[in-house]
Amino acid sequence: MNKIPEHVAIILDGNGRWARSKGMPRNYGHTMGAKNVETICRACHNMGIRYLTVYAFSTENWTRPDDEVKAIMKLLRHYLKTCFTLARDNDMCVKVLGDISRLDEDMRETILRLEEETKDYGGLHFQIALNYGSRDEMLRAVRSLVADRESGKITGEIDEQVFVSYLDTKGIPDPDLLIRTSGEQRLSNFLLWQCAYTEFYFTDVHWPAFDEKELEKAVKSYGERNRRYGGI
Ligand code: FPP
Repeated sequence: MNKIPEHVAIILDGNGRWARSKGMPRNYGHTMGAKNVETICRACHNMGIRYLTVYAFSTENWTRPDDEVKAIMKLLRHYLKTCFTLARDNDMCVKVLGDISRLDEDMRETILRLEEETKDYGGLHFQIALNYGSRDEMLRAVRSLVADRESGKITGEIDEQVFVSYLDTKGIPDPDLLIRTSGEQRLSNFLLWQCAYTEFYFTDVHWPAFDEKELEKAVKSYGERNRRYGGI
C-alpha cells in the first residue's frame, strides 16, 4: 500500500447501534468496541502508521444515563490496566488527552503510570482522548498561557508554535486522516485545531465491526487524495 498516513485519528462511533442491531444491550457494544481498539492498534502498528488517536470519551459524554457512564468508566479502567501489556508487546507509547482531573483517583494514577512506563516505546504513539473536548482543551491552553505570561515564564510573541505547545497534543503531529465510523459526518468537538488540514473518511460501518480490512480501505482512500494545504 502506498502513501501511509503518519497520524490516524478515529471517532469511535456506533457501539450502541451495533449492539442493538444484534439484539444486545448497548454496554455489550462498548465491551466489543473496547476490544476492537486493541485490534486496530495492532493493525496500525503492522501497517506502519506511527500515531493513532482515538476519541474514547468526550466532555459531553457525561450527559449519558448514569449506568451507561459507570459501565464505560469500568471498561476504560480495565482497559487502561491491560494496556501496560499491550504497550509492551506492540512497542506502544501511550498518552491520554483531555482533562483527567474529573476522573477517579485510581484511574488518574494508572494513566500517569502508564504514560511514564511507556514513554520510551517508539513503535506506535497511541493517544486516548478521555474526558476530552477540543473547546475545553483550547480554553485550558489559553488559561495556562495567560498564567505563564503573567508570571513572566513566557515573553515575546504568542504565535502558532507557542499556542500548540499548550495543547494536550503537544509534540504530536496533526492527524493526516480522520475516520468516523457509523454514518455520522461531524467532528463532535474532536481535535478542532489539529484537523485544519486533515483528510476526512466517513463510513457506515459501526465501530465494533471496523476491522483491519476497513482500516485498509480508509488508508487506500487517503492515498488517492491530493493534499494541497491551501496551495494549488
Ligand atoms: C461510541 O459509540 C462510544 C463511546 C463514545 C463510548 C466509549 C467508547 C468505548 C467503550 C470504546 C473503548 C475505548 C478505549 C480506548 C478502550 P456510541 O455509544 O456513541 O454508539 P451509538 O452512536 O450507536 O449510540
